[in-house]
Amino acid sequence: MKRILTYGTFDLLHFGHIEILRRAKELGDYLIVALSTDEFNATKGKKAYHNYETRKKMLEAIRYVDLVIPEENWEQKINDVKEYKADVVVMGSDWADSDRFDYLKEYCNLIFLPRTEGISTSKIKEDLKLQNPVNGVDQIPNPDSEN
Ligand code: CTP
Repeated sequence: MKRILTYGTFDLLHFGHIEILRRAKELGDYLIVALSTDEFNATKGKKAYHNYETRKKMLEAIRYVDLVIPEENWEQKINDVKEYKADVVVMGSDWADSDRFDYLKEYCNLIFLPRTEGISTSKIKEDLKLQNPVNGVDQIPNPDSEN
C-alpha cells in the first residue's frame, strides 16, 4: 500500500483544496493529511475561521482523505514520514522553489503539485469583504464565473 502525506490549514474549504487532495490520493492508496493546529497557525500569525476540530471533521468527510493528524510544528515532518510510513510527501507548488524540505528526500519522495489557479482561503476572505449591505450579495465576485 502506497501512503501519501500532505500538509495544510484547509480553512474555508474550496475547490483548490479538493483538487490537491484528489491529485494527492491519485498518487497512492492511503492519504494522510497533517492539519495545522490553531496553536501552530498562531505561531505563524495566521488565524483560521474554523477551529481545528471543525476543519478536521470537514476533511474527514472528504472521500480522498483516509486519516487526519495534527500538524503542530515545522520539525515534525520527518517523524510523521517514519511513524506513518509515508512513501510520498505532497506539497503545493507554492513551496516548489524552496529547498526547505529537501532533507525529506532521504526518506520518501517529495512531490510538488501545482496549485489550482485563482482561488485561496485568503482570496475568499478578501472577496467577501467586498460584500456590503447596500449592494448585497450580487456584488461578491464568483470564482466559478469567467468574469
Ligand atoms: N492549494 C492548492 N490550490 C489552491 C489553494 C491551496 O493546491 N488554489 C493547496 C496548497 O498548496 C496546500 C493545500 O492546498 O497544499 C492547503 O493550503 P492552505 O494554505 O490551507 O490553503 P490556501 O487556500 O492557500 O490558504 P491561504 O490563502 O490562507 O494560504
